[in-house]
Amino acid sequence: MIDYEKDPVLIRGTEDIWWVGFGDKKVGFANNPYLIIDEDEAMLIDPGPRGRFYKIVHNKVAKALKGDFEKIKYMAVQHEDPDLCASLPLFAQIVDENVKLYVQTRTAAFMPYFEYEGAMVTIEDGDKMSFKSGRELTFITTPYVHFAGSNVIYDSKTKTLFSSDIFGAFSVDWNLYANEYYLEAMKAFGEPYFGDHRSVASAMEKFEKLDIERICPQHGSIIDGKENVKNAIEVVKEMTVGQWV
Ligand SMILES: [Fe+2]
Ligand SMILES: [Fe+2]
Repeated sequence: MIDYEKDPVLIRGTEDIWWVGFGDKKVGFANNPYLIIDEDEAMLIDPGPRGRFYKIVHNKVAKALKGDFEKIKYMAVQHEDPDLCASLPLFAQIVDENVKLYVQTRTAAFMPYFEYEGAMVTIEDGDKMSFKSGRELTFITTPYVHFAGSNVIYDSKTKTLFSSDIFGAFSVDWNLYANEYYLEAMKAFGEPYFGDHRSVASAMEKFEKLDIERICPQHGSIIDGKENVKNAIEVVKEMTVGQWV
């Protein structure tokens, strides 16, 4: 029996991608950092905020890595919001001292404000990184969805898209995997947070060129299966974005 408050969860259909987040029922807003453990190297994606959330993520990462934080040779933040960046300096103290942070150029400028002082690799659209095993991740920029410096990450080995805020949702009734109500629930998050149709359409066009088996967003639930992924892209395309002007 999984304890979602304490246990890391291996993502269905993968052998090495872990959900290390927190489906916070009190705030109705799940926050989902992910950990890829590729043989003896690991990458932590969108590590999260500080405070009680950091403790939860820290303990889940510790369990997934069996205490060996130094396996984390790479971290990535997919835009500059504190809900995914604030814990960076805390993790930086315990992961490999030569850790590299992959970050979009326009997001990199904000990292000093989080007191992150480690090495950064700045990425642009289509850039790739490889683990020692040869496994490749591709960085895809999604400008203005919802920050100028936003990007997503595609793992070609598992056909997983780490989408950060895109495909996220508020979720009072949270499940790790999206249920039949999830796609509709994405609208309440996406419509006010995404600014304009042109940038959303550009991001969706990029995603439609990929072979995606699952989407792992930073909020809400994992969208599993090609058909569900296709439907989710259609829902985002049809959103009435830029609501708060
Ligand atoms: Fe955000
Ligand atoms: Fe977020």
